[in-house]
Amino acid sequence: MSKILKFPKDFKWGVATASYQIEGAWKKDGKGESIWDRFSHTKGKIRDGHTGDIACDSYHRFKEDVKVMKSLGIKQYRFSISWPRILPNGKGRVNEKGVTYYHRLIDELLKNGITPYITMFHWDLPQKLEDEGGFRVKSTSYAFAEYAKVLAKRYSDKAVNWITLNEPLATAYAGYKLGMHAPGAKVSEKTLNQVIHNLLLSHGLGVLALGAYGKQDCNAGISMNPFVRMPATAGSKDYAAAKESWYSGKNELLRRSNEPPKMNWTNGWWFDPLYLGKYPAGQWQEKKKDVPVITAEEMKIISTPTDFLGLNIYSGMNIKEGKKGPEIVAFKENAPRMSSGGYITPEALYYGVRIPAERYGIKNVIVTENGSSCNDVLLHNGKVNDLARVDFFKKYLASLHKVFKHKIGLQGYFIWTLLDNFEWSAGYTERFGICYTDFPSLRRIPKASAYFYKEVIKNNGLRLENMK
Ligand code: FCB
Repeated sequence: MSKILKFPKDFKWGVATASYQIEGAWKKDGKGESIWDRFSHTKGKIRDGHTGDIACDSYHRFKEDVKVMKSLGIKQYRFSISWPRILPNGKGRVNEKGVTYYHRLIDELLKNGITPYITMFHWDLPQKLEDEGGFRVKSTSYAFAEYAKVLAKRYSDKAVNWITLNEPLATAYAGYKLGMHAPGAKVSEKTLNQVIHNLLLSHGLGVLALGAYGKQDCNAGISMNPFVRMPATAGSKDYAAAKESWYSGKNELLRRSNEPPKMNWTNGWWFDPLYLGKYPAGQWQEKKKDVPVITAEEMKIISTPTDFLGLNIYSGMNIKEGKKGPEIVAFKENAPRMSSGGYITPEALYYGVRIPAERYGIKNVIVTENGSSCNDVLLHNGKVNDLARVDFFKKYLASLHKVFKHKIGLQGYFIWTLLDNFEWSAGYTERFGICYTDFPSLRRIPKASAYFYKEVIKNNGLRLENMK
């Protein structure tokens, strides 16, 4: 019998997806236009001109998705609700057909013993709201509150686990600063900081709506994607430097050499409001005229206690103690990478969970996304041997397991993603799924990594044989 690195009893193994990436049916049954519909229909925005119009057609094939999850023993499914399917104009009139779709999905999950984890917002903002200013204006945060209220009232008798926002950092930075994601804006620094604040405010209002209108006691969280920094060596100095570099506003040098460059905030700018109810004082001062308009009441709303922190973690950066503080250690030229270019750094899971959990004393953490894109090939025997992805998961899970040595309350782990799907500006050219989507036929074909995950779930842990 080989040894198994066991995870705690009741550990939640799951997979994640997002509405725009899998559903298709972009204008079916009264759905309103989202910013991703508009963006992908704009020439030159998405690689090869791809759109999410059909995607994996999960709107019509969700029963197949559930069936494949069941066959793999997956017990939790994180999916997102398309805001414009529920509220075509972002607020006001409710689209009953859209509401029904998610009822059918939730019922199908429950019937098959799979617990839903529902993300309220995974980037597909109703276009109508963007036309009114999107996250530049606070009225969008209040529209989100109204949307969250509808979700709580309609679904919370069946679904208790809720994630308000997915990676608000990506919405702000890729969507409003770099213009790489919808809505494709390139706003000023001041507006960007306001966008961040309004996103955080939306989250807080969402948590409050769940508390006020939930039909049972719900679990609310947010999925964040911190800039993960890991010590370059096992020495304690580098660990201290890595920790400092997560939050310090002082290390200009570090931020200047950051990848992607010129982000003007650290993890503290995002996490301190959530957990401490304020923006980091030093960074606030540095921003001078670019600070957002905030009120004390809003800071209270943003820091409303949640039930868990969701973390989406893929890669990290190595940090060492330098002469003037933390320094980035550049990756070697041949360092392992995903097909999308992201570095493969298994330790990112361990430090990425441990550092924020310890800093803020967070009791319940869930890895709400982790995974890798690979150049998968459907072989003529009908199989997909994604051994590089299997190796990725072995290494990342072994690293994640180390958090238990520090008594960190890690509750679950969700693979990104169930099936190859529309990977934002990369269209269908990056495959992250543990199931292969054969786009011409829309068949779902479990890859070797899906069978590997099935074993992990069955054993509630990682078999240690053949680990390098
Ligand atoms: C995350 C997103 C998710 C997916 C993965 C690869 O940042 O939340 O939708 O695109 O990256």
